Amino acid sequence: MLIPSWWWCSSSSSLLLLLTVAAFATVHGTVTYDGRSLIIDGQHTILFSGSIHYPRSTPEMWPNLIAKAKEGGLDVIQTYIFWNLHEPQQGQYNFNGRNDLVRFIKEIQAQGLYVTLRIGPYIEAECTYGGLPLWLHDIPGIIFRTDNNQYKFHMERFATKIVNMMKSANLFASQGGPIILSQIENEYGNVEKAYHEQGSSYIRWAAQMAVGLQTGVPWVMCKQDDAPDPMINACNSMKCGTTFKGPNSPNKPSIWTENWTSFYQAFGEKAYIRSAEDIAYHVALFIAKKGSYVNYYMYHGGTNFDRLASAYITTAYYDEAPLDEYGLVRQPKWGHLKELHAAVKSCSDTLLYGTQSIIALGAEQQAYVFRRSSTECAAFLENSGQEQVIVQFQNIPYVLPRSSISILPDCKNVAFNSGMVSTENKARMRAMIPQIRFNTAEKWKVYAEAIPNFDDTTLRENKLLDQISTVKDTSDYLWYTFRFNDKSAIVQSSLSVLSQGHVLHAFVNGVLVGSGHGMRDSRSFITECNVNLTNGMNVSLLSATVGLHSSGAYLEHRIAGLRSVKVQGRDFTNQAWGYQVGLQGEKLQIYTDIGSSKVQWGSFQSSVKPLTWYQTTFDAPAGNDPVVLNLGSMGKGQAWVNGQGIGRYWLSFHTPNGDPSQKWYHIPRSFLKSTGNLLVLFEEETGNPLEITLDTVIYQ
Ligand SMILES: *[C@@H]1O[C@H](CO)[C@@H](O)[C@H](O)[C@H]1NC(C)=O
Ligand SMILES: *[C@@H]1O[C@H](CO)[C@@H](O)[C@H](O)[C@H]1NC(C)=O
Ligand SMILES: *[C@@H]1O[C@H](CO)[C@@H](O)[C@H](O)[C@H]1NC(C)=O
Repeated sequence: MLIPSWWWCSSSSSLLLLLTVAAFATVHGTVTYDGRSLIIDGQHTILFSGSIHYPRSTPEMWPNLIAKAKEGGLDVIQTYIFWNLHEPQQGQYNFNGRNDLVRFIKEIQAQGLYVTLRIGPYIEAECTYGGLPLWLHDIPGIIFRTDNNQYKFHMERFATKIVNMMKSANLFASQGGPIILSQIENEYGNVEKAYHEQGSSYIRWAAQMAVGLQTGVPWVMCKQDDAPDPMINACNSMKCGTTFKGPNSPNKPSIWTENWTSFYQAFGEKAYIRSAEDIAYHVALFIAKKGSYVNYYMYHGGTNFDRLASAYITTAYYDEAPLDEYGLVRQPKWGHLKELHAAVKSCSDTLLYGTQSIIALGAEQQAYVFRRSSTECAAFLENSGQEQVIVQFQNIPYVLPRSSISILPDCKNVAFNSGMVSTENKARMRAMIPQIRFNTAEKWKVYAEAIPNFDDTTLRENKLLDQISTVKDTSDYLWYTFRFNDKSAIVQSSLSVLSQGHVLHAFVNGVLVGSGHGMRDSRSFITECNVNLTNGMNVSLLSATVGLHSSGAYLEHRIAGLRSVKVQGRDFTNQAWGYQVGLQGEKLQIYTDIGSSKVQWGSFQSSVKPLTWYQTTFDAPAGNDPVVLNLGSMGKGQAWVNGQGIGRYWLSFHTPNGDPSQKWYHIPRSFLKSTGNLLVLFEEETGNPLEITLDTVIYQ
């Protein structure tokens, strides 16, 4: 619901633009459009595109991901730009390693593919805070994504920086580079009404600002019915086929998103699996309806390293995509779509330049026929019914499985049927092969995170602080502490904590008395603990966010953390609270080689306690197969390898079926040395590290 899975472009034509195109047809690097398709160097073209987000894999993985996308029949790689990763502090930029955008685009160029650049800079993308850096939140008077001078100033500054960076590397098609399309903003239609007139003036400004950047290639705004000229308004919705009003000017092609496939997964939820046959059916139908640009969101999802994921989103991102989290080909999806792409490409000129007619073949069957001349003809035979049927097309019988489309590039021979997966592409099982076990106490060292008392905290307020503006995205954690002051002891009472995100662990005098958590769709949750409180006791409440929210209007107003605390009905919300931002272990970075030597690690005890750091070392498994950690025996926390965050894990939050949402956690090969790799975990609960294994991944 948050993210487009498909971009589809098609229909409507423009004489005006055709004439403009004709005039420039011979100029190298010209990208424009008419009602039929994008036009690149004067050629109409059908484009298959796939989303791959550079920070969700590593530069070492990029060449192979792009090569497999190309081999799978893609023409375009689409990516968002991640502002929060590129400018973590105002004015301090990071374009290194996984953030090396120029290197990523040059790699795509080197392999001969095009790029669609979704600049945003608000991107959503299940990325924490929708990709906005948190320091924006502290700019006085700022309101995001509306006609607000502070926001517009920073948005323009960042968009300009990205465009200039692309220009200096000659990466726009107008400069001979691979970028054929750019996007400004993202699904603004979802929130525009909430901003009243300022919403429409903002979007007019955004369009003007983007066009003023002079990229020399077209811009799109998705889900933006009033996208100002010359922005192409794209539709992103479940029902674009019926609700999209179409282009908002005769000079624009219709680009729409249909049928999002919700491949992203939240903790506590199952993986959404959409079959290869279903995807192929809808893509083929779209091409039959004169679509010319299809984007797979995601083609490779990858990994939400470190704390990149937004609220409750799993560390694995779109693992069910044609390339799995580790970049391995997922069958039958990858191969089936590759065959679809090849079948469409084999008749693309007929589709682009032919005349379309639609012929009924039965109650739920029809043919989309494209005829260019008496000899050139291509057809899509669709069966939208739920039963297999035999249809007659040009006096020849064709078998059409239920909900399927056959592609006949010559109007005679079936090159592809969306419902029939060839044996070559048959599903293969992914297997995780344990290589290293950490099953003895000697392999582990432990460090107990201190549980601060009120006296240990220096930040004080007579109210409950908002976690987001207090922690400023430097950690998932905020400690709320108070001293229970009441001469009359309340024995056997209940401590009730209302929290707005996302996990709570309650301690009394250093002993865990209860835990609770919310879920993706909940705004808040209540944790009730039975406690015996007497005068002077220390109550320490650890609140953890699991990524910040990424969608909705007025994101700058969103808050997290504790909202009210009651003991046996008595309100302690507005009494003296002490705060500690983050964990001691985080401050000392004890997950790094240098940081780990700053504290005294102890030996592993069989009685595991909550809030414990664990460390061990291991050698890299031989070979090149992807490496993953099986954390199935753990509860909730974060993991690091050689100082690099491999993400949040959460095994104790089960799906409705009673399974963890994500058991395996990717360690890219490039994070590893051949020997002596440092693995550090911070475990909030009482998981058992002795059952962790390091596995390699194969398909069999
Ligand atoms: C959307 O996709 C679902 C399955 O993913 C399919 O059953 C449905 O027919 C599709 N709807 C449209 C309007 O394409
Ligand atoms: C509270 O005290 C009662 C008896 O006084 C005891 O049974 C109970 O276990 C105590 N609860 C906790 C959480 O310590
Ligand atoms: C609460 O913490 C303070 C400071 O650490 C300590 O002096 C006090 O004894 C604690 N209270 C109880 C009941 O343990």
